[in-house]
Amino acid sequence: MHHFHYAGQKLHCESVDLAAIAQLHGTPTYVYSGLTIADNYRRLAASLAGLDVQICYAMKANSNLAVLRHFANLGAAFDLVSGGELRRVLAAGGDAHRSVFAGVGKSEAEIRLALEAGVFGFHVESEPELARINHVAGQLGRKAPIAIRINPDVDAHTHAKITTGKSDNKFGIPLKVAAAAYAAKYPHLELKGVQMHIGSQLTSAAPFIEAVEKVVPFVAELKKLYGITYFSVGGGIGIVYQDALASGAPAWWDAKPAAERPLTPEAYGAALTPLLAPLGLKILLEPGRFLVGNAGVLLARVEHLKRGANKNFLVLDAAMNDLVRPAMYEAYHEIVPLLRDTTRPALKADIVGPICESGDCFAKDRTLQSVGEGELVAFMSAGAYGYTMASRYNTRSLPAEVLVSGSRFELVNPREKFETVIAGEKIPSFLKT
Ligand code: LLP
Repeated sequence: MHHFHYAGQKLHCESVDLAAIAQLHGTPTYVYSGLTIADNYRRLAASLAGLDVQICYAMKANSNLAVLRHFANLGAAFDLVSGGELRRVLAAGGDAHRSVFAGVGKSEAEIRLALEAGVFGFHVESEPELARINHVAGQLGRKAPIAIRINPDVDAHTHAKITTGKSDNKFGIPLKVAAAAYAAKYPHLELKGVQMHIGSQLTSAAPFIEAVEKVVPFVAELKKLYGITYFSVGGGIGIVYQDALASGAPAWWDAKPAAERPLTPEAYGAALTPLLAPLGLKILLEPGRFLVGNAGVLLARVEHLKRGANKNFLVLDAAMNDLVRPAMYEAYHEIVPLLRDTTRPALKADIVGPICESGDCFAKDRTLQSVGEGELVAFMSAGAYGYTMASRYNTRSLPAEVLVSGSRFELVNPREKFETVIAGEKIPSFLKT
């Protein structure tokens, strides 16, 4: 459920007319619903209420400082994957002491930064990494808290590029006690937990259950042997992309027979709680997409409707540099007009951006209400892995970001200026004639 809906014929985010935001701040612009984020967070927390849960928001999904502060205010900690993300947490006033640091290639400088900030745990992906963290911790005269990331070799049944829990993925350590025994031998490491993450955009609870069932005996054993205190089950809960706008209404969910309902946090919690509760450990979750995905839209303006020989092309002012998911993962994003007019005929078109390559295509042969030059559309479910994956390809500036709260909204990141884009670049003296 989310808070994007038509009021009259105008698409709103909470009580704000999205066209008003586009008018004021231009397009392409990401708009986030603070209330949807809060609802998602509380709903997930409630669905695991039987456990001692610590939600570490996977900030790679959306790391705008305003979004991070909102999460910090809700009580969330963070799952971070770089020194840059750690600095964002600190800049937003987030709690580094309850946050975890993941990733297969943490540099010495990043490890140092994280030790100094006092992170909750380093999620370790290999034996060389254990040695590196031990080395840096020794230099600082500290003990580094670590958790071993286990690769449970489970198929998450999601897109190949976002599957992480199979043995031929680069992530994690195979399920064997040896890695933990090895970790326990380092003088500057403190073994605190076990972590797993099998993939993203999972639409059923089954792979989570399979992975947790595989890893739980190992976790219990480490608790006995080393007194570990936590088990992180990662992120990965999927969201609705296909029917995104309609799924905002409770009625949409109620109309679905239970077997056809997309994975809900309640179903996730009900499946995992009985498996995890007997461990008697703190349970960490690292959700990204579930918390912010349906809480954001990308607003764009129609440049032209180009009528080709065999098909139509709806050319927008947003492009693959603003939202790369369709080009990169063949991902589906629902595209809806900001002004609904049911009297207009439908239009079938490829929906494309202005970038100079054919991959800059958001949707092929999509049918939507006819829209013409200057009119506005919204990409639904664009709150996760939207802005954070944006680039400046074709020297296009990064888009703007706006946060909505009830009837208020504020620009939380202005559209990038051309001067900023080129600020660090210079012509070397040997080219100056
Ligand atoms: N924990 C770890 C260790 C992860 O690698 C990830 C995501 C998460 C948590 C959060 O997963 P989530 O709850 O968001 O599914 N750019 C892709 C998704 C990449 C996910 C990477 N890892 C996309 O746009 O679909």
